Amino acid sequence: MPELWKHTSCTEVGALVQGRPMDSKETGLRYRVKRAIRQMGEQHRHLRPIFEEIRGAIEQTDTHQAREALGRLQEGLEAHFRLEDLVFFPALHGLHSGHSEGLEMLSREHVGFADALRRLGMHLESSDLAGFGRDFDAFAGSLSAHEEHEERLVADVVGGSD
Ligand SMILES: [Fe+2]
Ligand SMILES: [Fe+2]
Repeated sequence: MPELWKHTSCTEVGALVQGRPMDSKETGLRYRVKRAIRQMGEQHRHLRPIFEEIRGAIEQTDTHQAREALGRLQEGLEAHFRLEDLVFFPALHGLHSGHSEGLEMLSREHVGFADALRRLGMHLESSDLAGFGRDFDAFAGSLSAHEEHEERLVADVVGGSD
C-alpha cells in the first residue's frame, strides 16, 4: 500500500490538493505527499521484472507463460495508472498548478496504454506470438518514454514547489 494511504486520509489529501487552509499537520502532510509522489519511480522499477519474463516467454515461444505474465502486467499497470490519475497527479497539481497540460497528456497516454494492453492480449488469444512480440516491443518503448517524462515532470514539480 502506498505510504500516502497508510498515514493520510482522503479528506486531508483533498484539502491539500484544493489548497484549503490546514492545521499544524500541514508541513508533515506536504512531506508525506512529496515522498509518496517520489515513490512513483519505485513503482515503475517494481514492474520491470515482468517485462523480462514476457521477453523470456517470447524467446521460448511459451504462449501460456506470456499470457500469464501479461495478465499480471496489465493488473499492475492499471492499478498504477489509477493511483497516478486519482492521487499522484491531483497532488502534483495541488503543489504546482503550472503543469496541468503535461499531467493531462500523461493521463491521456494511460488510456492509450490500457487499449494497447488489450490488443496485446488479443494477439495471445489467437496464439499470434510473432505479432505479440512485435507490438510488445513497441509498447515497452512507448511506456518507457512515458515513465521518463513522468519522472522528469515530478522532479520539476517537487523540486520547485518549496
Ligand atoms: Fe503514468
Ligand atoms: Fe507511472
